[in-house]
Amino acid sequence: MIRVRVFGDANALARALARDLARRLRRNPRLVLGLPTGRTPIPLYDELVRLHAAGRVTFSRATTFNLDEFLGLDARDPRSYRSFMQHHLFDHVDLTRRRIHFLNGATDNVAGECARYERTIARVGGIDLQILGLGLNGHVGFNEPARALAAQTHCVRLTSASRRANAAIFGNRVRAVPRRALSMGMATILHARRLVLIATGASKARCVERMINGPVTPRLPASFLQLHTNAEVWLDRAAAERRNELL
Ligand code: GLP
Repeated sequence: MIRVRVFGDANALARALARDLARRLRRNPRLVLGLPTGRTPIPLYDELVRLHAAGRVTFSRATTFNLDEFLGLDARDPRSYRSFMQHHLFDHVDLTRRRIHFLNGATDNVAGECARYERTIARVGGIDLQILGLGLNGHVGFNEPARALAAQTHCVRLTSASRRANAAIFGNRVRAVPRRALSMGMATILHARRLVLIATGASKARCVERMINGPVTPRLPASFLQLHTNAEVWLDRAAAERRNELL
């Protein structure tokens, strides 16, 4: 059963999750975090930066793994997810560089890079807390709706819906969005000890309702969260709208 928490707005959600993370980091400074990109986590990262500046959280011994990266983009490319994370979080907190882990979008050995990521996650003992966003089409990371899902970190062909959703990073030119990406697989994600998926805004409401109440199906990868024993979905009121209608 997915546990659902609803907050008044996106900022209240971000504040609560940042405080939750800060508490967990105080209890276990070596926490291993899985992190998403996208618009949804920006208020969370802002809040973590604020708490860090106020001396209320340190990441000095924490480890992070990001979910995904565009294939063909170098980490220093301003449109890469790595640059997004530098800009919104990494440049402003005390994470140790060698404990920040990212898929290398510029690799010329895709299979080797995916295997390296899986090995690195295993070597640190797995992910304690994986934070997830939700694609408008129900993807998590870049596990796109399909007839079947890949279990492990893999290379994925992006759907046109996902390329459209990411066009803003590429000057609103959908054709400039890479056609492929590297992403943790569904099993990589489900092996995390705790999952917190965050979704805000009315545009996500339909998908949220299907994720929580619908069948577990690769056509909606986020529905696989129903199989996890410690999965939570944190919503603002707008994203929870349809769910409330059904209750
Ligand atoms: C991107 C990322 C996902 C993210 C999703 C939602 O495509 N690959 O990991 O969760 O989009 O983005 P947003 O939060 O902007 O709606």
